[in-house]
Amino acid sequence: MKKLTLVYFSPTKTTETVLKAIAQGLAQGLEISGSAMTSVNFTRPEIRQTGLAPFGGDDIVLLGAPVYAGRLPSDAADFFKKLSASGTPAILTVVYGNREYEDALLELKDIASACGFIPVSGAAFIGEHSFASTEIPVAMNRPDGTDLQQAQDFGSNTGGLLKETHDLKRIGGLKVPGNFPYRDGMGKGAPDFIEVTDMCTNCGICATVCPSEAIDAQKGYVTMAADCILCCACIKACPEHARVMKDGPIKDKAKWLNEACSTPKPPQVFFAPGS
Ligand SMILES: Cc1cc2nc3c(=O)[nH]c(=O)nc-3n(C[C@H](O)[C@H](O)[C@H](O)COP(=O)(O)O)c2cc1C
Repeated sequence: MKKLTLVYFSPTKTTETVLKAIAQGLAQGLEISGSAMTSVNFTRPEIRQTGLAPFGGDDIVLLGAPVYAGRLPSDAADFFKKLSASGTPAILTVVYGNREYEDALLELKDIASACGFIPVSGAAFIGEHSFASTEIPVAMNRPDGTDLQQAQDFGSNTGGLLKETHDLKRIGGLKVPGNFPYRDGMGKGAPDFIEVTDMCTNCGICATVCPSEAIDAQKGYVTMAADCILCCACIKACPEHARVMKDGPIKDKAKWLNEACSTPKPPQVFFAPGS
Protein backbone atom coordinates (compact mmCIF):
# COMPACT_ATOMS: atom_id res chain seq x y z
CA MET A 1 0.00 0.00 0.00
CA LYS A 2 1.59 3.28 -1.13
CA LYS A 3 1.37 6.47 0.92
CA LEU A 4 1.36 9.82 -0.82
CA THR A 5 2.71 12.90 0.99
CA LEU A 6 2.64 16.47 -0.31
CA VAL A 7 5.40 18.63 1.19
CA TYR A 8 5.23 22.28 0.19
CA PHE A 9 5.83 25.95 0.91
CA SER A 10 3.13 28.22 -0.54
CA PRO A 11 2.50 31.70 0.89
CA THR A 12 -0.13 32.69 -1.70
CA LYS A 13 -1.39 29.13 -2.30
CA THR A 14 -0.74 28.71 -6.04
CA THR A 15 1.86 25.99 -5.35
CA GLU A 16 -0.61 24.27 -3.03
CA THR A 17 -3.32 24.35 -5.72
CA VAL A 18 -1.00 22.90 -8.38
CA LEU A 19 0.30 20.17 -6.06
CA LYS A 20 -3.21 19.10 -5.11
CA ALA A 21 -4.14 18.73 -8.80
CA ILE A 22 -0.98 16.68 -9.45
CA ALA A 23 -1.77 14.52 -6.41
CA GLN A 24 -5.30 13.91 -7.70
CA GLY A 25 -4.01 12.61 -11.05
CA LEU A 26 -1.32 10.52 -9.39
CA ALA A 27 -3.69 9.01 -6.82
CA GLN A 28 -6.20 8.05 -9.51
CA GLY A 29 -3.50 6.40 -11.64
CA LEU A 30 -2.02 4.47 -8.73
CA GLU A 31 -5.32 3.81 -6.95
CA ILE A 32 -4.19 5.56 -3.78
CA SER A 33 -7.12 6.34 -1.50
CA GLY A 34 -7.69 9.69 0.19
CA SER A 35 -6.85 8.16 3.56
CA ALA A 36 -3.34 7.32 2.28
CA MET A 37 -2.65 10.98 1.40
CA THR A 38 -1.11 13.54 3.78
CA SER A 39 -0.15 17.18 3.30
CA VAL A 40 2.71 18.95 5.06
CA ASN A 41 2.32 22.65 4.38
CA PHE A 42 5.47 24.10 5.94
CA THR A 43 4.81 27.73 4.98
CA ARG A 44 4.38 28.78 8.61
CA PRO A 45 7.58 28.97 10.68
CA GLU A 46 6.30 26.78 13.55
CA ILE A 47 5.92 23.81 11.15
CA ARG A 48 9.54 24.28 10.09
CA GLN A 49 10.83 23.90 13.67
CA THR A 50 10.62 20.12 13.53
CA GLY A 51 11.70 17.82 10.71
CA LEU A 52 9.67 14.96 9.25
CA ALA A 53 10.09 11.24 9.86
CA PRO A 54 12.24 9.58 7.17
CA PHE A 55 10.43 8.43 4.02
CA GLY A 56 10.85 4.86 2.79
CA GLY A 57 10.07 2.64 -0.17
CA ASP A 58 6.29 2.62 0.42
CA ASP A 59 6.11 6.41 0.19
CA ILE A 60 5.65 8.66 -2.81
CA VAL A 61 6.42 12.31 -2.09
CA LEU A 62 5.43 15.46 -3.95
CA LEU A 63 7.78 18.37 -3.20
CA GLY A 64 6.68 21.87 -4.21
CA ALA A 65 7.73 25.49 -3.81
CA PRO A 66 7.41 28.82 -5.61
CA VAL A 67 10.28 30.39 -7.53
CA TYR A 68 11.88 33.44 -5.94
CA ALA A 69 14.50 35.19 -8.12
CA GLY A 70 15.02 32.02 -10.15
CA ARG A 71 15.74 29.96 -7.04
CA LEU A 72 13.82 28.27 -4.23
CA PRO A 73 12.86 30.60 -1.36
CA SER A 74 15.62 30.06 1.22
CA ASP A 75 13.15 28.95 3.94
CA ALA A 76 11.84 26.28 1.57
CA ALA A 77 15.30 25.09 0.53
CA ASP A 78 16.42 24.89 4.18
CA PHE A 79 13.39 22.76 5.13
CA PHE A 80 13.72 20.43 2.13
CA LYS A 81 17.39 19.87 3.03
CA LYS A 82 16.31 18.40 6.39
CA LEU A 83 14.23 15.63 4.74
CA SER A 84 15.53 12.09 4.65
CA ALA A 85 14.45 9.35 2.26
CA SER A 86 15.53 5.92 1.14
CA GLY A 87 14.42 4.63 -2.24
CA THR A 88 11.44 7.02 -2.22
CA PRO A 89 10.17 8.36 -5.55
CA ALA A 90 9.82 12.15 -5.57
CA ILE A 91 7.79 14.34 -7.91
CA LEU A 92 9.23 17.85 -8.00
CA THR A 93 7.27 21.00 -8.79
CA VAL A 94 8.12 24.68 -8.88
CA VAL A 95 5.54 27.37 -9.53
CA TYR A 96 6.56 30.70 -11.00
CA GLY A 97 4.91 33.97 -11.94
CA ASN A 98 5.25 33.76 -15.75
CA ARG A 99 8.73 35.35 -15.91
CA GLU A 100 11.29 32.48 -15.68
CA TYR A 101 12.14 29.68 -13.25
CA GLU A 102 15.85 29.60 -14.06
CA ASP A 103 17.67 27.30 -11.56
CA ALA A 104 14.81 26.58 -9.13
CA LEU A 105 13.77 23.16 -10.45
CA LEU A 106 17.39 22.02 -10.72
CA GLU A 107 18.00 23.21 -7.15
CA LEU A 108 14.96 21.21 -5.97
CA LYS A 109 16.16 18.13 -7.85
CA ASP A 110 19.65 18.41 -6.38
CA ILE A 111 18.29 18.80 -2.83
CA ALA A 112 15.87 15.87 -3.28
CA SER A 113 18.65 13.61 -4.59
CA ALA A 114 20.97 14.59 -1.73
CA CYS A 115 18.21 13.67 0.77
CA GLY A 116 17.93 10.16 -0.71
CA PHE A 117 14.84 10.62 -2.91
CA ILE A 118 14.69 9.24 -6.45
CA PRO A 119 13.39 12.12 -8.60
CA VAL A 120 11.02 10.54 -11.14
CA SER A 121 9.43 13.63 -12.64
CA GLY A 122 9.62 17.40 -12.43
CA ALA A 123 7.47 20.31 -13.52
CA ALA A 124 7.36 24.08 -13.70
CA PHE A 125 3.84 25.48 -13.52
CA ILE A 126 2.66 29.09 -13.62
CA GLY A 127 0.95 30.83 -10.70
CA GLU A 128 -0.46 34.30 -10.27
CA HIS A 129 2.51 36.49 -9.44
CA SER A 130 2.86 37.31 -5.77
CA PHE A 131 3.11 41.00 -6.79
CA ALA A 132 -0.12 40.84 -8.87
CA SER A 133 -3.16 42.96 -8.03
CA THR A 134 -6.29 43.93 -9.95
CA GLU A 135 -4.39 47.08 -10.92
CA ILE A 136 -1.26 45.17 -12.04
CA PRO A 137 -2.54 41.69 -12.96
CA VAL A 138 0.70 39.73 -13.54
CA ALA A 139 -0.30 36.14 -14.49
CA MET A 140 -3.61 36.81 -12.72
CA ASN A 141 -5.74 33.76 -11.95
CA ARG A 142 -3.07 31.22 -12.89
CA PRO A 143 -3.15 28.31 -12.43
CA ASP A 144 -6.31 28.32 -14.56
CA GLY A 145 -8.50 25.37 -15.57
CA THR A 146 -6.13 24.36 -18.38
CA ASP A 147 -3.11 24.48 -16.04
CA LEU A 148 -4.91 22.33 -13.48
CA GLN A 149 -5.90 19.77 -16.12
CA GLN A 150 -2.24 19.64 -17.17
CA ALA A 151 -1.20 19.25 -13.54
CA GLN A 152 -3.60 16.34 -13.16
CA ASP A 153 -2.31 14.77 -16.40
CA PHE A 154 1.27 15.23 -15.17
CA GLY A 155 0.30 13.36 -11.99
CA SER A 156 -1.37 10.52 -13.85
CA ASN A 157 1.52 10.23 -16.36
CA THR A 158 3.94 10.05 -13.43
CA GLY A 159 1.71 7.30 -11.98
CA GLY A 160 2.00 5.45 -15.30
CA LEU A 161 5.78 5.75 -15.21
CA LEU A 162 5.89 4.42 -11.63
CA LYS A 163 3.63 1.49 -12.54
CA GLU A 164 5.86 0.51 -15.45
CA THR A 165 9.09 0.85 -13.48
CA HIS A 166 10.02 -2.45 -11.89
CA ASP A 167 13.22 -1.30 -10.19
CA LEU A 168 13.30 2.36 -9.19
CA LYS A 169 17.04 2.20 -8.57
CA ARG A 170 17.57 1.57 -12.27
CA ILE A 171 15.48 4.52 -13.41
CA GLY A 172 17.44 7.01 -15.56
CA GLY A 173 18.46 10.33 -14.04
CA LEU A 174 15.82 13.06 -14.31
CA LYS A 175 17.05 15.96 -16.43
CA VAL A 176 15.62 19.44 -15.81
CA PRO A 177 16.68 22.90 -17.02
CA GLY A 178 18.92 25.06 -14.86
CA ASN A 179 22.57 25.83 -14.25
CA PHE A 180 25.01 25.13 -11.45
CA PRO A 181 26.44 27.19 -9.78
CA TYR A 182 22.94 28.56 -9.27
CA ARG A 183 22.16 32.23 -9.71
CA ASP A 184 22.09 34.36 -6.55
CA GLY A 185 18.91 33.83 -4.53
CA MET A 186 17.13 36.03 -2.01
CA GLY A 187 17.31 36.12 1.73
CA LYS A 188 15.14 37.99 4.22
CA GLY A 189 14.74 41.75 4.10
CA ALA A 190 12.67 43.92 1.81
CA PRO A 191 12.11 47.56 1.08
CA ASP A 192 9.30 49.03 3.17
CA PHE A 193 6.66 48.42 0.47
CA ILE A 194 3.37 47.67 2.26
CA GLU A 195 0.99 50.34 3.48
CA VAL A 196 -1.66 49.45 6.06
CA THR A 197 -4.63 51.69 5.28
CA ASP A 198 -7.39 52.77 7.63
CA MET A 199 -9.59 49.95 6.26
CA CYS A 200 -7.63 47.68 8.65
CA THR A 201 -9.88 46.24 11.37
CA ASN A 202 -7.01 44.65 13.34
CA CYS A 203 -8.41 41.18 12.65
CA GLY A 204 -4.86 39.79 12.60
CA ILE A 205 -5.27 37.46 9.60
CA CYS A 206 -2.18 39.05 7.99
CA ALA A 207 -0.03 37.95 10.93
CA THR A 208 -1.39 34.39 10.84
CA VAL A 209 -0.44 33.91 7.17
CA CYS A 210 3.00 35.54 7.28
CA PRO A 211 5.70 32.88 6.72
CA SER A 212 8.40 34.92 8.43
CA GLU A 213 6.70 36.46 11.48
CA ALA A 214 7.31 39.88 9.98
CA ILE A 215 4.02 41.47 11.05
CA ASP A 216 3.87 43.31 14.33
CA ALA A 217 0.45 43.25 15.97
CA GLN A 218 1.68 45.72 18.63
CA LYS A 219 2.40 48.32 15.95
CA GLY A 220 -0.87 48.22 14.00
CA TYR A 221 0.09 45.18 11.93
CA VAL A 222 2.90 46.94 10.11
CA THR A 223 5.35 44.74 8.23
CA MET A 224 8.87 44.71 9.67
CA ALA A 225 10.89 45.08 6.50
CA ALA A 226 13.97 43.32 7.88
CA ASP A 227 12.05 40.03 8.31
CA CYS A 228 9.84 40.26 5.21
CA ILE A 229 10.41 37.85 2.31
CA LEU A 230 8.16 39.89 -0.06
CA CYS A 231 5.72 36.98 -0.51
CA CYS A 232 2.62 39.25 -0.33
CA ALA A 233 0.59 36.59 1.51
CA CYS A 234 -0.62 39.31 3.91
CA ILE A 235 -1.82 41.55 1.07
CA LYS A 236 -3.70 38.71 -0.65
CA ALA A 237 -5.24 37.29 2.55
CA CYS A 238 -6.54 40.60 3.94
CA PRO A 239 -10.36 40.37 3.92
CA GLU A 240 -10.67 44.19 3.95
CA HIS A 241 -8.10 44.82 1.18
CA ALA A 242 -6.48 47.11 3.73
CA ARG A 243 -2.89 46.22 2.80
CA VAL A 244 -1.65 47.80 -0.42
CA MET A 245 1.64 48.10 -2.24
CA LYS A 246 3.24 51.51 -1.82
CA ASP A 247 4.69 53.33 -4.81
CA GLY A 248 8.36 52.34 -5.06
CA PRO A 249 10.71 49.66 -6.39
CA ILE A 250 8.47 46.61 -5.81
CA LYS A 251 5.46 48.23 -7.45
CA ASP A 252 7.71 49.33 -10.32
CA LYS A 253 8.92 45.75 -10.65
CA ALA A 254 5.31 44.52 -10.75
CA LYS A 255 4.53 47.02 -13.51
CA TRP A 256 7.59 45.90 -15.46
CA LEU A 257 6.65 42.22 -15.08
CA ASN A 258 3.13 42.96 -16.24
CA GLU A 259 4.46 44.45 -19.45
CA ALA A 260 7.54 42.32 -20.10
CA CYS A 261 5.97 38.93 -19.21
CA SER A 262 2.46 39.39 -20.55
CA THR A 263 2.46 36.38 -22.91
CA PRO A 264 1.13 33.42 -20.90
CA LYS A 265 3.68 30.61 -20.67
CA PRO A 266 2.66 26.95 -20.69
CA PRO A 267 3.67 24.54 -17.92
CA GLN A 268 6.69 22.33 -18.62
CA VAL A 269 7.01 18.72 -17.48
CA PHE A 270 9.97 16.33 -17.40
CA PHE A 271 10.16 12.57 -16.77
CA ALA A 272 13.07 10.32 -15.86
CA PRO A 273 13.61 7.70 -18.53
CA GLY A 274 11.99 4.41 -17.33
CA SER A 275 14.04 1.32 -16.45
C1 LIG B 1 10.33 37.54 -3.73
C2 LIG B 1 9.71 36.92 -4.95
C3 LIG B 1 10.48 36.60 -6.05
C4 LIG B 1 9.89 36.01 -7.18
N1 LIG B 1 10.68 35.66 -8.23
C5 LIG B 1 10.12 35.12 -9.34
C6 LIG B 1 10.91 34.73 -10.45
O1 LIG B 1 12.15 34.77 -10.42
N2 LIG B 1 10.29 34.33 -11.58
C7 LIG B 1 8.93 34.26 -11.68
O2 LIG B 1 8.42 33.96 -12.76
N3 LIG B 1 8.13 34.53 -10.59
C8 LIG B 1 8.70 34.94 -9.44
N4 LIG B 1 7.91 35.22 -8.34
C9 LIG B 1 6.47 34.91 -8.38
C10 LIG B 1 6.13 33.57 -7.69
O3 LIG B 1 7.02 32.56 -8.07
C11 LIG B 1 4.72 33.14 -8.08
O4 LIG B 1 3.80 34.15 -7.84
C12 LIG B 1 4.24 31.88 -7.36
O5 LIG B 1 3.05 31.48 -8.00
C13 LIG B 1 3.99 32.11 -5.88
O6 LIG B 1 3.72 30.85 -5.27
P1 LIG B 1 2.76 30.68 -3.99
O7 LIG B 1 1.38 31.11 -4.44
O8 LIG B 1 2.79 29.21 -3.73
O9 LIG B 1 3.29 31.52 -2.90
C14 LIG B 1 8.48 35.77 -7.20
C15 LIG B 1 7.71 36.12 -6.08
C16 LIG B 1 8.31 36.68 -4.96
C17 LIG B 1 7.48 37.01 -3.77
